[in-house]
Amino acid sequence: MEDLRIGVIGSGGRGGLAAHAHKPGKGSRIVACCDVDRNVLEWNRQRYGKEIFTTTDYCELLDKDLDAVFVTTPDFLHEEHAIAAIEKGLAVYLEKPMTITIEGCDRVLAAAKRRKARLFVGHNMRYMTVFRKMRELIQKGAIGEVRAAWCRHFVSYGGDAYFRDWHSERKNTTGLLLQKGAHDIDMIHWLTGAWSKRVSAFGNLTVYNRCKRRGKNERGDAAFNVTHWPPLKQTGFSPVIDVEDQNVMIMELENGILGAYLQCHFTPDACRNYTIIGTEGRIENVGDGPESPVFVWNRRTDCYQMIGDEVYRGGVTDASGHGGADSVIVEEFLRFARTGCETAATPEAARMAVAAGYQATISLRNGGQPLDVPPLPKFARKAQKRGL
Ligand SMILES: NC(=O)c1ccc[n+]([C@@H]2O[C@H](COP(=O)([O-])OP(=O)(O)OC[C@H]3O[C@@H](n4cnc5c(N)ncnc54)[C@H](O)[C@@H]3O)[C@@H](O)[C@H]2O)c1
Repeated sequence: MEDLRIGVIGSGGRGGLAAHAHKPGKGSRIVACCDVDRNVLEWNRQRYGKEIFTTTDYCELLDKDLDAVFVTTPDFLHEEHAIAAIEKGLAVYLEKPMTITIEGCDRVLAAAKRRKARLFVGHNMRYMTVFRKMRELIQKGAIGEVRAAWCRHFVSYGGDAYFRDWHSERKNTTGLLLQKGAHDIDMIHWLTGAWSKRVSAFGNLTVYNRCKRRGKNERGDAAFNVTHWPPLKQTGFSPVIDVEDQNVMIMELENGILGAYLQCHFTPDACRNYTIIGTEGRIENVGDGPESPVFVWNRRTDCYQMIGDEVYRGGVTDASGHGGADSVIVEEFLRFARTGCETAATPEAARMAVAAGYQATISLRNGGQPLDVPPLPKFARKAQKRGL
């Protein structure tokens, strides 16, 4: 079997994920990297070999002889980079969120349909053991018929990761309810087996707008630093911050299921905590690390039971990034690039997550007015249930 020849556009930061696909002689290898930062390209040559092609211009990369490409650039570049790669007939691993608008997602879907391209979107939470366990239990009927889905998301690293670089501006992300929330909205869809139909939200910028900014020409540092606490005493934030730092979204899903998603960027600790309630019980993850437990409560009581009636643990052996999910998702992408096989993450699901997050963002900027979530475009409806 010849190695798949793989390129990476945006080969620093999240682009490091592509290292899981660098297995020369064992099915796939990184042969080309593109990044606007030349230090990143130097690191790429050290990591993947000095013979790889490197460039600061993604069009030059796409002119090379490639089978597949990772697009791991910032969100506002996804649409342009993904469509260009699709037009070249390549299999594409596109990072989440798919794009920053609903129309952008639909243009990417249309290009993939027209070119019959193998398009994959990097919703790696679908590959985390803890959430796979929750979905498996829900599908087996552990809580009866699903009626409610709530997620609390504590983003302790938000002050570093999202308010010191491009993430802090609406023009680059639409907002953090979409940029960060795309993961959680997708999880709510996946765990409940239903898309959002109608959403409404509140949100505001209440902490980071009061922090000291850096100068317009100073470079930001978005690396997590545990000493950056408490937020109001910190400095070095983006000159422009116009995204919300807390968001509360409510969702009417298909089949009469109601959802709620709460996101806060100034918590001391970090966790995603989902609780799904059915007609015969409740399921909840406590923590989202590789060994985090999943609890199921089925016994009726009149007080809070911290520990569930049943306890399940993931048992991940490979903790190589995002609870072991990163190596698993890359493996699936490589299989998909070769064979077009079924995948747990799908572009249709990625588009629906953006659609719900986008409409919720419009809602919160218009007094919380409820808005319908546009369904998939007609040409993609056949694949409607793919990814649920
Ligand atoms: N699935 C996940 O868990 C996960 C985790 C982190 C980030 N992400 C996603 O990955 C993407 C990148 O995020 P990041 O934090 O690594 O961002 P980043 O700012 O570090 O950018 C990634 C790389 O792209 C490069 N780049 C920027 N503009 C470019 C251009 N025009 N051409 C080529 N390269 C360019 C940067 O120099 C950098 O090396 C985002 O869409 C983000 O949502 C996903």
